[in-house]
This record gives sequence, C-alpha cells and structure tokens, in this order.
Amino acid sequence: MSSSSSSVICSFVIILALFFNSLLLCNGGKTSIYVRKEEKTVDMPLHSDVFQAPLGYNAPQQVHITQGDHVGKAVIVSWVTQDEPGSNTVVYWSEGSKEKMKAVGKISTYKYYNYTSGFIHHCTVKNLEYNTKYYYVVGEGTSMRKFWFTTPPEVGPDVPYTFGLIGDLGQTFDSNVTLTHYEKNPMNGQTMLFVGDLSYADNHPNHDNVRWDTWGRFVERSAAYQPWIWTTGNHEIDFAPEIGETKPFKPYTHRYHVPYRASQSTAPFWYSIKRASAYIIVLSSYSAYGKYTPQNQWIEQELPKVNRTETPWLIVLMHSPWYHSYNYHYMEAETMRVMYEPLLVQYKVDVVFSGHVHAYERSERISNIAYNLVNGECSPVKDLSAPIYITIGDGGNIEGIANNMTVPQPEYSAYREASFGHAIFDIKNRTHAYYSWHRNHDGYAVQGDSTWVFNRFWHPVDESQ
Ligand SMILES: [Fe+2]
Repeated sequence: MSSSSSSVICSFVIILALFFNSLLLCNGGKTSIYVRKEEKTVDMPLHSDVFQAPLGYNAPQQVHITQGDHVGKAVIVSWVTQDEPGSNTVVYWSEGSKEKMKAVGKISTYKYYNYTSGFIHHCTVKNLEYNTKYYYVVGEGTSMRKFWFTTPPEVGPDVPYTFGLIGDLGQTFDSNVTLTHYEKNPMNGQTMLFVGDLSYADNHPNHDNVRWDTWGRFVERSAAYQPWIWTTGNHEIDFAPEIGETKPFKPYTHRYHVPYRASQSTAPFWYSIKRASAYIIVLSSYSAYGKYTPQNQWIEQELPKVNRTETPWLIVLMHSPWYHSYNYHYMEAETMRVMYEPLLVQYKVDVVFSGHVHAYERSERISNIAYNLVNGECSPVKDLSAPIYITIGDGGNIEGIANNMTVPQPEYSAYREASFGHAIFDIKNRTHAYYSWHRNHDGYAVQGDSTWVFNRFWHPVDESQ
C-alpha cells in the first residue's frame, strides 16, 4: 500500500472515531466550545470605588428596593445610616406631580460576633399607581439622596415585561463585570430576579459583616432604581456556632425584607408576587420543605391560586438546582425535587431559575416523577408539562467558576457553559417569552445562549422542535 493511500485510510479512521466520539459526548444537548480562561476570582478590596460610602454626615447608603405587596403597587425601600438612626421617612412623588408624599418606616440594628450593624431602615411605600415613574428621597439635610423607580404595568395576561436574572453574585472584580453587563444590556431588564447567595461575607473571617455593607453599597447602583426580588441561598444562613452565632439568616433577614405576608407566607424565605403577566414563586432550599412543614403547606395552597388567565407566566425561583450536570452540589437538591416536582409539573410551571452551581446550564423540558420505589422508572423523561430548568449561579463570586462537568452530557441538559454572566427573561405576550444568557466576556448585546419559551398554559408546544 502506498504511503498516500495509507494516510487517507488513517485520516478516515480518525474522522470516524471523532464522529462516534462526538455522538457519545453529544448524548444530551450542547456543551459550549467556549472555554473561559482559568483565573482567580478575588473580592474587590475594601477601598474600591464601588464600595465607597456616599458623602455627608449619616448619609443613607446601601439603598435598595423590592416589591412591597402582592401585585406591584407597593415598594419596600431599604437603606442604612451609619452614624445615628436619622430620619426613617421616605419622601416620594410621581413624575410631573408637585404633591410630595411621605411614608414612615422602621429602624433596627443587629450584632454579629464582634460586629454591630448600622441603623437599618425599611419603609413600605404603598398605593402607588401602575406604570408610573416615582422619585424618592431618603436622608435629611445636606445628606439627602434622591433615586427613582418605575412601577410595573397593571397585572394582566398580555403585559410585556423584562426580567433580569443573576445568581451567586458576591463582590469580586468578576461580580462587578456581571452587574455592569446587566446594566448595559440593551434588552433593559426592568426587575431583577436574584436567585440567592448575595454577599459571600461568610467567606471572610468570622463572617465579617462589613462585607454585607460593602455588598449593599456595590449593588445600590442597580437595586436602588429597580426592584431586586430576593431568594435565600446557603451564603445567607450565616450559622456559625463556633463564634456563638446560632440564629440562621440573621444578617440577611435584618437587611433584606420581602413582602411574604402578602402571599400568606409565614416566613420571609418562601413567598410569591405577581408582576405584570408573571406569577413568581420564591422557594427556600434551606428551610424545611417536607410534608407537614410550613413551606410545604404554603406551596400546596399557593399553586392552585395561580390564575393563568390573569398571569400566564408561572416562574419559580430557588437557590439549589434540581437539574444540572456539573460535578458540584450534584443532587444536593434531590430531596426537595422529590417533594415538589410533581406539583410543579401538575401546575405547569413555565421555568425554574436556580443558582448555587457557579456556571450556566439550561435543561430540556423533563420530569422525573414516575418513580414509586418499585417500578424502576427512575430516569428523567421528556415532559411538555414540565418546566425548563435554568442554572444561573454564574454571577462571579469569590469561590470561582465551576468548570468540571459530568461526561457525557446527560440527555436532560440542553446547553451548558462554565462562564460568568447573567440572563434576561423577556415576556412578549401570553404565549411567547424570549430568554437569553449573556456571558461577561462578550459585548453587551451578545447572546451566549437563547431560546423562545412557549407558555405552558396558552401555547404548550415543544420549543426544541
Ligand atoms: Fe450557593
């Protein structure tokens, strides 16, 4: 055989091998060919510009807002004053109006090991008009600070609305890039759905709560102007018996309030809101969820209340993902999945967003609810009544990227990539939403992954076809 013909055969064999190998690896969906350069993620130093306190004596800092009722006509305004309690009043007015209104809030402080917090203010501004820009002022004298927000449109089935998505943000240089990319994204997120793990203060000695303050100052540039909807992650627990801190969620619950009572919840870790055409259910991966527990009782009563004729889009947020395929936290949420997945499929949840795994992944519509201990049916199967599961714990925190994936890619995984980024869920009407994920290393308008999402109640068609 000539050397040229043997090299042709050799090339053919290699190509064939590569083909079968790719078949094996592409068992599931797509693993991105983009490989993020491995580098350390470090917290920005305390003197960073993004952490600077505002000028002025006792000036309000760490200003942030969230929805303050069940339907979007109220806002909780929160801030911290460092020197003295100061004014607990929010002065607000709608754009173009000369009439200024006032709401009075409450002030609290807490101690954590050797740290004492500043004066933490929470004030609910109620009876707002829908779809209206409001200005608001906190603080007094020369230290007054002015911000603004826009209320959502009235709840209704075809109201377009654009949600941003970030998880596991932390306060590293990468976190700063993630937040900037979200702010500069031309798709203009109107409300942030934050899927847990905020400051990562607990990665510092004795859970240094100064890092809760720096985080509050860092995100103010977004969170003071649009509501961030909060989910609790494991980095909110701050359970540290070795330093005498045995009350879980102490810093988080003092600093971040949510309107849980408005949805008949009995704790701030699970609750719901309606916003525009979406019904958003927030669950807690770190509160009891077994049979007879408060969270279980709540979700069993909550899901039947969702009226898809009023809010077609049913979105669930929780920190720990049920479906992903990275070798980190794998199956950590399995017991919660076993408990709640049948409900989510029964009530046709459109999409579930989670964090916790520091990478990005989108699943197919699948469920794993047929198993009953004896029938052996324990593999996820395609299920058009099931949600899409999106893991978006790639905010860029101090713990770094999760780049170790299970191989081959499981069938339930549609797309995965170990890069930092954020996402946008853009509701167009009752049938269609456009979802896109944006990696930090790209330009602001670039979409690293995207898909149309078809509503499970109004248009339950397979998007993957
Ligand atoms: Fe986490």
